[in-house]
Amino acid sequence: MSITVIGAGYVGLVTGAGLAHLGHEVRLSERSAERVAMLEEGGVPIFEDGLEELLAEGRSSGRLTFHTDNVKAAAGSRFIFLCLPTPSGPDGRADLSFVEGVLDEMATQVAEDAVFVVKSTVPPGSVKRFARRLVELGSGAKIAAHPEFLREGRAVHDFLRPDRLVVGAFTPEVALAVAGLYESLAGVEAVVTDPTSAEMIKYASNSYLAARLTFVNTLANLCEAVGADITDVIDGMGRDHRIGSHFLKPGPGYGGSCFPKDTEALIGVAEDAGYDFKLLKAVIEADASQRLRVIDKIRQAAGGGLRGRRIAMWGLAFKAGTDDVRESPALRIARSLQHDGADIVFYDPEATSPEFLSAPTALEAVRDSDVLVVATEWPEFAEVDMDQVRKVMRGHRLVDARNLLDPTKVRAAGLDYVGMGRPLA
Ligand code: UDX
Repeated sequence: MSITVIGAGYVGLVTGAGLAHLGHEVRLSERSAERVAMLEEGGVPIFEDGLEELLAEGRSSGRLTFHTDNVKAAAGSRFIFLCLPTPSGPDGRADLSFVEGVLDEMATQVAEDAVFVVKSTVPPGSVKRFARRLVELGSGAKIAAHPEFLREGRAVHDFLRPDRLVVGAFTPEVALAVAGLYESLAGVEAVVTDPTSAEMIKYASNSYLAARLTFVNTLANLCEAVGADITDVIDGMGRDHRIGSHFLKPGPGYGGSCFPKDTEALIGVAEDAGYDFKLLKAVIEADASQRLRVIDKIRQAAGGGLRGRRIAMWGLAFKAGTDDVRESPALRIARSLQHDGADIVFYDPEATSPEFLSAPTALEAVRDSDVLVVATEWPEFAEVDMDQVRKVMRGHRLVDARNLLDPTKVRAAGLDYVGMGRPLA
């Protein structure tokens, strides 16, 4: 099948390369000529496990080509996947101008039987509005909501082995045609709905996960107050099959390009519909105070004041497995510490930032530091020799905002360990 994918960001690259892997002819269109040139020359603009191989396969098979002109790229295509950003506007509501702009540009330029497939996260009701707009513009194209559920760092895996596919269309024929693009993926079930429900599934999933995580984070805080150990508590909770053990790790709060944006946007959706989503508002508030709590732990570990203190940060990415620092709790914490006078040195295997001094290795980052902070859960941090860490540090305090390290090992090396919801020694 001939497919055009508009937008070569995280979602567009993985979706485009993934669809080519499934045997489709994919034209990936991107307005940045620089990015297209890089892709044509064999480059990979983002760090994503398995993507390089998938792009190489698409290029060498000839099934994946790169373009800068949306209209030309869509000529004769049956499906046009829109993988465009929908960032938060000033009031937290999703800004749909990229999607709307491209739909306006392409509405009357596509094949008679073309289907626009909206991968971008758009508020419930958007695809209905887009459909009306297509009619107003005299377009005969169809449109469907087909939200993505790709986790950064696991996006290729998630594309090839999705928990579910969600397709919301106005007719079963269109929904089944979109779902049919994935027929070579064995055992994958498609949830077929109306467009508004499909859009809601995306917001509901991300907001539920954000709430679940925030529940665990606040529970960790309560564990500290009563002297319980969150690690044992989540182990005990997670064995109840109604709860499950995934997505229960306490940390410095959620980050990334989806959770902060989608929770805010859902509150906007609720407000516009006259509903006060108090629970989700409380989640956002508790998540923000989680970072302040981590900052407070670091301040205390530094002896109360931060001016002139050298803080080593292990990790800057918003989570392990990615170089993405968008809405990264680690980055926000580092900024706040720096603002209060601390000197930050960070090490991250993939992420970079011009705002702070970076070290070439995890061990080099801790040299002469007063406090070591584990801010991202890269597994390699758990392998660092803690005796060496103790030797090169100036201070002896470690704040593990991800509960990544084994407190017994850290303490055995002569360091004070402070985790999240774990008892002090
Ligand atoms: C998320 C959704 O999972 C995905 O379906 C959606 O399409 C995009 O948003 P992603 O942003 O890549 O994916 O990150 P995810 O792995 O879901 O983690 C989100 C945040 O929760 C991160 O900040 C992560 O560190 C945090 N987290 C996750 C925890 O603190 N503890 C956990 O147990 C799990």
